[in-house]
Amino acid sequence: MYTKAVYSDYVESADYIKSKIGGIVPDIAIILGSGLGDFADSLTDVITIRYGDIPHFPISTVSYQKGEFVFGKLGDKTVLAMNGRFHFYEGWELWQTAYPIFTMSLLGIKKLIITNAAGGINENYRPGDLVCVRDHIKLSLESPLRGANIPEFGARFFDMQSVYDKSLAETAHKTADKLGIKLQDGIYAYMGGPQYETPAEIRMLRTLGADLVGMSTVSEIIAAAQCKIAVLCISCVSNMAAGMTGAAITEEEVLEVGAKIKTSFASLVTEIIKTI
Ligand code: HPA
Repeated sequence: MYTKAVYSDYVESADYIKSKIGGIVPDIAIILGSGLGDFADSLTDVITIRYGDIPHFPISTVSYQKGEFVFGKLGDKTVLAMNGRFHFYEGWELWQTAYPIFTMSLLGIKKLIITNAAGGINENYRPGDLVCVRDHIKLSLESPLRGANIPEFGARFFDMQSVYDKSLAETAHKTADKLGIKLQDGIYAYMGGPQYETPAEIRMLRTLGADLVGMSTVSEIIAAAQCKIAVLCISCVSNMAAGMTGAAITEEEVLEVGAKIKTSFASLVTEIIKTI
């Protein structure tokens, strides 16, 4: 049996963050995926909290992602941005990749925007497209919640049908329309990585109904569902998935497309937060 964190660990993490942000309950949290890291620069009255300083917190090892919370204001909203997240492929257990979400719930956070870069499986997508994730497929049987349940966070068995919040998705679409930004809908398939998929795996995922594929997000979503945090998830299509163009998929391409789209991605997210 592997050892998970216990409730008091999460409480100590949250208490540390509370002590830094003056006990304010952020109106919303956001996880910044690859390409959206600069978004934190648009916050004012910023307080930065490095993961390494938070008791029990994992520390992000993806070289281009930072490892810090940035708390600040966006218009009249208070925002807790996660700059750097934890991936299974880095070697973390799934429960560790979900650790920040339970910490957020102890901060009183009720709404969360999750962003990521993903491969496009849907033939209608193009690199640079933004997609509102409406549901997901996880083929791996592992769950971040395997092991002893922490009842303070929710029930042992819980519903997954409403975590992708309909009204947040509606707000995202209305905001995108207003800004003239194309926002499509899609289903995200989780693959553990770090290798990109094979063409056969992508054909399988398409057959199963997936529109996007990525290596993050789903454990965060599962944690949010248990502790009843409403989620808006937006993916940036950074590349067409394996086998779709004949071209090799590279990390450089993924980061390059993220860099190109980051301005409109950030303005969409900014406007959504102001509207919520
Ligand atoms: N597959 C998995 N994860 C990804 C991809 C991909 O093609 N692109 C960006 N993240």
